[in-house]
Amino acid sequence: MADKIRVLLSEDEVNARISEIAEQISKDHEGRQVHLICVLKGGVFFTCELAKRLTVPVSLDFMSVSSYGSGTKSSGVVRIIKDLDEPLEGKDVLIVEDIIDSGRTLSYLLEILWQRHPKSIQICTLLDKPERRIKKQVKVDYTCFSIPDEFVVGYGLDYDQKYRNLPYIGVVEL
Ligand code: IMP
Ligand code: MG
Repeated sequence: MADKIRVLLSEDEVNARISEIAEQISKDHEGRQVHLICVLKGGVFFTCELAKRLTVPVSLDFMSVSSYGSGTKSSGVVRIIKDLDEPLEGKDVLIVEDIIDSGRTLSYLLEILWQRHPKSIQICTLLDKPERRIKKQVKVDYTCFSIPDEFVVGYGLDYDQKYRNLPYIGVVEL
């Protein structure tokens, strides 16, 4: 049976907000190149939409980490599935995430990426669930939307690998 999905943030709302954030990031990085790190797979749609709207020079790399098993429950285990292709030495890095939930994934990522001597690391996320944060020390520089503690899909986010391709953010009515 098909799941019922309630729209939380429409395609227009999401795209308008990404444009605003892109303008802000471009302003903040004037005269510098931004090295975007797309956190796969969830971050891929957001990264593309964001990158297209940035007016500063951009380079792009991809990393895949896993913190969740199937379904909607965290396993608490984070592992690297695919590492970056390029070194980070001296670069102004912007990590692009789909969602920050407990903050475990990001706090782990920050730990390993700082060891590669970038000039700076900032974090940009499409969604944030602040109520769920365990790793309180994770500072997020750019947040498109703070949302309540509900399991969301679309715009890269999945439920058992489904719904990543939805052009809006929705809640699966289980
Ligand atoms: P964290 O390590 O708990 O912050 O989890 C981050 C990862 O969990 C995200 O990158 C997503 O892959 C996944 N995740 C957390 N909440 C949701 C959700 O509501 N929908 C889909 N995936 C989620
Ligand atoms: Mg993610």
